Amino acid sequence: MTTIETANTSQSQALLARAKSVIPKGISGHYGYAVSDESPVFFQSSSGSRFTDIDGNEYVDWMCAYGPMIVGYNHPAVDTAAASQMAAGNTVSLAAPVLVDLAEHLVDMVDGVDWARFGKNGADSTTLAVMVARAATGRKYVVKVDGGYHGAAAWMQTPGNPGTVDGEHDLILSVPWNDPAALQTVIDEHGDDIACFMSSPYHHPVFEDNELPADGYWSAVEAMCRNAGIVIVVDDVRSGFRIDLAGSHVAYGFSPDLVCFGKALGNGHPIAALTGTDALRQAATDTFYTGTQFFNAAPMAASLATLKELQAIDGANRVTEIGQRLNAGLIDVASSRGHDLRVTGIPAMPYYRLAGEGGFKQHARWIAECVKRGAYLLSYHNNFVSTAHTDADLERTWDIADQAFQALDT
Ligand SMILES: Cc1ncc(COP(=O)(O)O)c(C=O)c1O
Repeated sequence: MTTIETANTSQSQALLARAKSVIPKGISGHYGYAVSDESPVFFQSSSGSRFTDIDGNEYVDWMCAYGPMIVGYNHPAVDTAAASQMAAGNTVSLAAPVLVDLAEHLVDMVDGVDWARFGKNGADSTTLAVMVARAATGRKYVVKVDGGYHGAAAWMQTPGNPGTVDGEHDLILSVPWNDPAALQTVIDEHGDDIACFMSSPYHHPVFEDNELPADGYWSAVEAMCRNAGIVIVVDDVRSGFRIDLAGSHVAYGFSPDLVCFGKALGNGHPIAALTGTDALRQAATDTFYTGTQFFNAAPMAASLATLKELQAIDGANRVTEIGQRLNAGLIDVASSRGHDLRVTGIPAMPYYRLAGEGGFKQHARWIAECVKRGAYLLSYHNNFVSTAHTDADLERTWDIADQAFQALDT
């Protein structure tokens, strides 16, 4: 095996220094967490499963922009659909027909839903979901899962985060994942006041092993919520289309009232959706929630093309299969170098952790060594698989992982 060069990222670092003088922190938000003195920070171009940073280093991208990229960067069918809608008009004083085409397509594709409303970010769909649940029930509390992330609005953040105040969290109750008894206790205490239970279909917190639902968990949740008149909201913003194209709830055998999508819905074009059942149609009609850019037509065209492509190539099964191979290969490489790599979550969104001595620090070092050699992974967050990842990407990633382990051990 030839030795893979480690990347020089000096131009990224120089641009980051410029950024810091005009942008607080330089790179803020979730992209900011991945920035280090050695990491690539700015990209120059992207194509398929890879991107090139501004220093000219190429990376196999296992972050997929934190999930949006699912059928490959610059996908011809998606980007052509967006471009041709753009040529006809994007943000115009009337809605575009593609709005209806996309809503029809989603209603057809997603199991158990009868309508869709659109926004830009995942937090638009989770915010609207809470409003619709409150409008429908006339109740105020939201129950979520400890460590569950639903966006960056103040009420969704960890209490105490700078810029949030206590009152913003007062109506949010939290229960441990996979713990129906804890949910029952909260329902016993606040049942008549709980509007909705909101959760991702499986638990994908940061810095922790991800956890699938235990057998019977979702059916127990469903029974308790039905019994207490609580709206069930599935936040499929991150996992949507990587488990089942009809919605992740299909894989776990339950029927939510509202399903939130974002991220992969437009393959990187800005669009999110809240979908729901007929029972909540009136509440969704009554609820005022909008934004200047919500009616952009080009992202809707891109989304429609993304969904059609995913259906044509059996996208969810494809990313699952690629993820299974990626993960099995990485576990083998790790074990051949005397390391114990744990993989949790679904195959297409693997969360990695090196067990054993060294803890998270050692794991983060291994990931950093992988990034330096051209496999873009994150240490503290689940990774993402796309349908554009190839056998060559898998081989290269395994080689890189192997050399990264050797670098750890020297
Ligand atoms: C499960 C989940 N819900 C909601 C969101 C919020 O999405 P956005 O960042 O597009 O607002 C995220 C973002 O990471 C997410 O992972």
